[in-house]
Amino acid sequence: MNIAQAEKRVAKLRELINDYRYKYHVLDESTMSEAVADSLKHELAELEAKYPELVTPDSPTQSIPGEIAKGFKKVQHQTRMLSLNDVFSKEEIENWVVRIKKLVPDEKLEYFSDIKLDGLACSLVYEDGVLVRGATRGDSFVGEDVTSNIKTLESVPLRLRGASDFSKGRTEVRGEIVIFKEEFTKLNAKLEKDGLKTYANPRNLAAGTIRQLDPKLVAARPLTFFAYDLIHEGFDATHEQVYTSLNKLGFKTSGVHRVFNNVDGLEKYISQWADKRQELKFNTDGFVIKVNDRELYEKLGVVGKAPRGAVAYKYPAEQSTTKVRDIFISIGRTGSATPVAILEPVNLAGTTVSMATLHNAGEIKRKDIRVGDTVIVEKAGDIIPAVVESLKDLRSDNEEEFKFPTKCPECNTDLVKLKEDEAVWRCPNNSCPARVSKRIQHFASRGALDIDGMGEKNVEALLEAKLISDSADLYSLKYEDVLDLERFAETSSKNLIEAISAKKNPPLAKFIYALGVRQVGAQTAIDLANKFKTIDKLSEANLEDLLEVEGIGEVVAESILTWFGDPDNQKLLEKFYKNGVRPENVEDVSGGKLEGISFVITGSISGMSREEAADRIRALGGTFQSSVGKGTTYLVAGGAVGESKLKKAEQYGTKVIDEEEFINIIK
Ligand code: IVH
Repeated sequence: MNIAQAEKRVAKLRELINDYRYKYHVLDESTMSEAVADSLKHELAELEAKYPELVTPDSPTQSIPGEIAKGFKKVQHQTRMLSLNDVFSKEEIENWVVRIKKLVPDEKLEYFSDIKLDGLACSLVYEDGVLVRGATRGDSFVGEDVTSNIKTLESVPLRLRGASDFSKGRTEVRGEIVIFKEEFTKLNAKLEKDGLKTYANPRNLAAGTIRQLDPKLVAARPLTFFAYDLIHEGFDATHEQVYTSLNKLGFKTSGVHRVFNNVDGLEKYISQWADKRQELKFNTDGFVIKVNDRELYEKLGVVGKAPRGAVAYKYPAEQSTTKVRDIFISIGRTGSATPVAILEPVNLAGTTVSMATLHNAGEIKRKDIRVGDTVIVEKAGDIIPAVVESLKDLRSDNEEEFKFPTKCPECNTDLVKLKEDEAVWRCPNNSCPARVSKRIQHFASRGALDIDGMGEKNVEALLEAKLISDSADLYSLKYEDVLDLERFAETSSKNLIEAISAKKNPPLAKFIYALGVRQVGAQTAIDLANKFKTIDKLSEANLEDLLEVEGIGEVVAESILTWFGDPDNQKLLEKFYKNGVRPENVEDVSGGKLEGISFVITGSISGMSREEAADRIRALGGTFQSSVGKGTTYLVAGGAVGESKLKKAEQYGTKVIDEEEFINIIK
């Protein structure tokens, strides 16, 4: 940008910011989020720093406003390391309070709140006051033993301080390992300078470091442990007292925790921290709120993976502004052509974002987003960042409208709409290279066959070398061929071949999901596997058979029929077979004790997870359903049942039973 262009931009930015400030402070109107205003102010300040001659005394800048890694031993947690349900507004906090008050109507509730540290959860076990084990959360039941690494942290006492009840027997301290923002920036800069892999955000760095196999490397990185829980037999306390004890025993706590006896106070406190939290040394995305009385907290129980007695409040999604450098079309596995904006890199909620989805052609038109536009981008949780809107007041007339292509950028086939009213354009060419690659990536992905080392880059390399042309070819790959590729060395080639070969007998449901049939998600794949038991039977199923599966309607059924009816796909299945792939057939349990009986479970059953309960039901020939419907035999109430569920049960004549009765039935 030259000075003349900068001058124009500066003028527009000032106008927009001043307008925002006037409306905000004088008219009590909000034209944009604070984050967006900050981002624009930042751009203005940068331009003024670059061209000091453009600074004027009236510029707005001149006023001062107010899962589980390999290589570690697995350890079973004595009590599960749960996660928390998120709430995103005051209203949702209040709903949570109403829910728990219903369960314990006679109790006077106190709320304990602490800042939510954005790091990785860790459990420390002390025997007779001496640290014997440090473990990650893992899958909540089983974590990784990272004792040697944990021992390098100065904030982890190797022996509990002082003589107390905790010097005898087993004591477990739980908390979060973080790296301070400042340290993260320094370390990342150093990694970059040394040509090493950098990390996207502090949490990734902390988590990546704890999983290093070499404790010396961990010792060289300044990680800090903050405690939030203390478990010791016979120790009854409030969460507040837990924190006091933790400090006495030698642990750091966040320093932000407080107790409230009403929700108003709690909400005010959270609002106060909304901005102030930026000044904290560590990243945080919200607050943890728990029922202060631990006995009550325990009594409220667990739903799924989270305790009823606590929630995590998340501050609103972070927004920022940046410029659209270009727009390209990404072709998905099913041919969908998604426009993606290439952005000037911008920091959003702690990560650098350089791409954001524009969803589809209609959205670009509706929002009138042009190449060169300044746009608001937003990221919420783990969702892909999206372009919210363009700031038209900042246009310089050099912006270009985006012409949605009529042909697939990968294979030049004409894009089509499957139905006229559909928003998405698709590449109909099944052999489009982008689609082939994405199909194979999907096949190997986590939720599907979960083949280690088969990410995008490796799939692309194998395709390019013509070693594979579909997912079935993976199973005929040879070590020597892989070794020939530039990306692979001896160990990595061997690992890849082994990882593939380990997935020759996948569970049928995973295999069905991995095939990537449109409309068939993970749950539908499970339902199909349970109904048809073998891939051959599924392949031969007709419309009527498919419609018998609970939850499958015309659209899904048609999609399945189309997939299996395609001769290319039949060839693919034959190739899998030829290459030794045999999905595990689902055991036939007809004639089982629970044949014809169906269950829905709400809440939790002590001593078993939902999945375990579901497996048990299926093993006995029964059906496990996700919601009460026509023909549901039993609704198992693990804890309190919501009104809407009870109503449905009544409507369908479903019998509501408690945990004990359920256990008796499946015994
Ligand atoms: S209390 C049932 N306090 O947030 C777990 N957790 O989503 C209750 N976390 O896995 C834990 N800061 O790793 C608690 N001050 C804090 C926390 C905190 C971060 C993490 C923790 C947990 C996750 C829950």
